[in-house]
Amino acid sequence: MIAIGSDHGGFALKQEVMEHLKKEGLEYKDYGTYTKDSCDYPVYAKKVAEAIISGECEKGILICGTGIGISITANKFKGIRAAVCHDCFSAQATREHNDANILAMGARVVGPGLALKIVDTFLNTEFSNDERHINRIRQIEE
Ligand code: RB5
Repeated sequence: MIAIGSDHGGFALKQEVMEHLKKEGLEYKDYGTYTKDSCDYPVYAKKVAEAIISGECEKGILICGTGIGISITANKFKGIRAAVCHDCFSAQATREHNDANILAMGARVVGPGLALKIVDTFLNTEFSNDERHINRIRQIEE
């Protein structure tokens, strides 16, 4: 199950991402925002982070205007590794090296075409399980 959330800046792209996930046959849960009205990104970052920590969802997608505020908030939660990615190389690397569990994107930075490719790359790339990466991730939590 994929948790997805955005603020007003990411609302339109969130709709496109959800449509894409549906077409791909992937299950997701939409944690809001549910309208284009101005709102506060920390609210949605927290909901998605909590969904992952509780085990309700395995991965998350967070979208705001830049991907920055929403990822900063999510990363305050122990066990959350949210990565802002605006290219496929970073999306692949953060899964392989950091075992990132949340993809953050900025809807004012990337168009929907690239955003969907980034989503696919993030969701389809496994963690490398390399000892050195496991060791580094452990150090994040210390
Ligand atoms: C909202 O205007 C904007 O600040 C927000 O979407 C995000 O870019 C924050 O980091």
